Amino acid sequence: MGEERKRYGLLDGDPAITRLQLQHRIWQRTLPDRITLAPIPASEAGKVRDVIDLGCGTGAWALEFAAAYPSVHVRGVDLKPLQPTSHPSNVEFLVDDITYDSAWASPSAAAQQYDLIHSRSMSSGIKSWPALISKCWEHLRPGGWLEFQEFHLPMRCDDDSMAGTAFERWNQLLVEASGKVGVKLDGGFAEVPRLLQGAGFAGMGRKALKWPVGPWPKDDRMKEVGRMFRADLSVVLEGVSIGLFTKALGWEPEAVRELWKEVEGEMAMAKMHAYVSIDIVWAQKPDGAVG
Ligand SMILES: C[S@@+](CC[C@H](N)C(=O)[O-])C[C@H]1O[C@@H](n2cnc3c(N)ncnc32)[C@H](O)[C@@H]1O
Repeated sequence: MGEERKRYGLLDGDPAITRLQLQHRIWQRTLPDRITLAPIPASEAGKVRDVIDLGCGTGAWALEFAAAYPSVHVRGVDLKPLQPTSHPSNVEFLVDDITYDSAWASPSAAAQQYDLIHSRSMSSGIKSWPALISKCWEHLRPGGWLEFQEFHLPMRCDDDSMAGTAFERWNQLLVEASGKVGVKLDGGFAEVPRLLQGAGFAGMGRKALKWPVGPWPKDDRMKEVGRMFRADLSVVLEGVSIGLFTKALGWEPEAVRELWKEVEGEMAMAKMHAYVSIDIVWAQKPDGAVG
């Protein structure tokens, strides 16, 4: 578990509670009125009984789901005890490593079968997507849904507004440094749809979205998302960059700080049309599936 934490920490920094709360608000504004895109029945009607959130962080998604579906039991699992100790009785939190045999997926917990397995912003904590997908298959009831909501670094830009900026340089260095320490920036998530198909999942759906870096979009909701995402980046990326660039590229911390200061100045001007890609994928274990 120690190695896992180290690898995870290199890319995500310290997922402090306030930062995860901000990220939760970004997700809420990204998917207004929808907590999941998996087409679970709109009415509870006894069809959805057990839900699990893998890498639940502060438990915000689990708590929101549990409030929307009060008769559903929602379990959240995370490496860290970031969840509130007081919560509604239909919510349960476990501290565990989801990539190992653990309470949510161990053979001794064979009775733990879910109608929805959800996971969000977890890709840098996943060492093997095939192994995780196979555990999810085992622990879904036939007819149950699996959903991953992920974002992918590096940043992208569809016009030339990022060209020649410190931000572009930083983005390229991030790719280079991550490659050197063996961290896949998209966490290998690009393979997931193919893996889901290969594992026997059906009814796959996929939605691509964007989080703008700063309030550059015209649309008001996306402006708000951009503002919040820029604030999130400001908090986390200086530390992540110092960790990565000193370790992988041999930079002095002060040089990284200087570059990051320039990047922050550019982000504040909101002239670059940079964004990070969001990928949401959902799929169903078919009715009648065995195993
Ligand atoms: C970026 S945060 C996202 C939290 C939450 N899913 C959300 O969207 O608010 C990623 C979370 O995954 C957890 N995590 C990373 N690797 C994990 C693992 N192997 N097992 C359990 N949790 C893990 C981290 O502790 C962190 O809380």
